[in-house]
Amino acid sequence: MTAENLTSGRIQIAMGLQDVVVDESKICFIDGKLPKLLYYGYNILELAENCSYEEIVHLLLKGKLPTKAELAAISKELIEARGLPADVLDTIRKAPKSSIPMDVLRTAVSQLALTDPKPNDDTPEGRYRKAIRLTALFPEIVAADYRARRGLDAVKNNPRLGHAANFMWLLHGKEAGPFVVKTMDVALVLHAEHSFNASTFTARVIAATLSDMYSAVTGAIGALKGPLHGGANEGVIKTLLEIGDASKVEPWILEKTKDKGFRLMGFGHRVYKALDPRAVVLKKYSEKSGKEAGITKWFEMSVKIEEMMKTREKPLYPNVDFYSASTYYTMGLPPEIFTPIFAVSRVAGWCAHVIEQQSHNRLIRPDCAYTGAMDVPFVPIDKR
Ligand code: COA
Repeated sequence: MTAENLTSGRIQIAMGLQDVVVDESKICFIDGKLPKLLYYGYNILELAENCSYEEIVHLLLKGKLPTKAELAAISKELIEARGLPADVLDTIRKAPKSSIPMDVLRTAVSQLALTDPKPNDDTPEGRYRKAIRLTALFPEIVAADYRARRGLDAVKNNPRLGHAANFMWLLHGKEAGPFVVKTMDVALVLHAEHSFNASTFTARVIAATLSDMYSAVTGAIGALKGPLHGGANEGVIKTLLEIGDASKVEPWILEKTKDKGFRLMGFGHRVYKALDPRAVVLKKYSEKSGKEAGITKWFEMSVKIEEMMKTREKPLYPNVDFYSASTYYTMGLPPEIFTPIFAVSRVAGWCAHVIEQQSHNRLIRPDCAYTGAMDVPFVPIDKR
């Protein structure tokens, strides 16, 4: 397409692909105005309160909520797929302490392909096996990196513990209490899937070239890292720490929002034009978590910010990253691990989309309006 098409109005650019429908999907429905979020037709509010992450993995990979027997089976598969290969653990240990945890995760996940005897097996069974393997190993990578940065050895998995509880065990080397485990489980359920968001779309673009699941998930991690996507939860806690106190929220917001280019992390969304339902749930957990830990200030500050942002001329509402930040922080988790936790959850959604993409594949290859020079006379190098 040339610029002429653009100026003549024959084509229109959909910057950021906003409102462009690129495929069908059965996995996730979002109505940003209501707002409503469904995984395979089930409302996220019900799933968050009633399901474990393992049930959601079953739902995303198999398209149905499991029976008790099916849940036991997939939980066993996830436990059996645990055990980080020694080479990957070594890479994590040797990563510079100055590196960003999302970079370590991306590198380790890419290396998982080298420790899989059949990384390119794209039979349905092969894709499912890789999805389970990736989902099982993400917590181990994140926890091993978390501990290595603190001069601690990785902890062995605890086969008695489910996904969320084992993740907390791997981080701290001891069993977390039931409230902390439930909070992590809810967070994992809430972050597991979100339709054609930037990282999932990245995974689908890679999958659509008929590349393998490790490549697709590695690329997705790169997309999730950005502060406009999963990286926003780290931005939120940095904001809260910078403000420091509930009494300073109002002057801080008023000062910052004078700058038209200012972006408040954890607010706004491409699809939701009202409160993100995931934020509704996380707000409750942020409050409970604060009370449980005896530190309510981060929740109180967050509520003040929310109130200010929704009453301004152009209201903005919290997204999933806003209340997850204060929730994780009061659970004693450091900011640099927030985006990796998002990835620990979203990996199941990415894998589900890779499987769906490859089940009815067409190469994803959009066009652009070319605005560069045309037919430039070639000049040999010694005459330039
Ligand atoms: N802070 C301040 N203003 C914001 C904002 C935010 N977090 N999010 C959106 N806006 C404003 C923009 O300045 C723009 O205003 P304008 O119309 O006066 O120019 C308008 O809202 C639309 O923003 P736009 O960037 O076009 O929306 P988008 O759909 O492209 O962006 C996000 C969506 C998520 C990238 C954007 O809301 C954002 O940057 N949020 C902060 C990062 C974040 O929390 N990301 C996690 C998403 S789950």
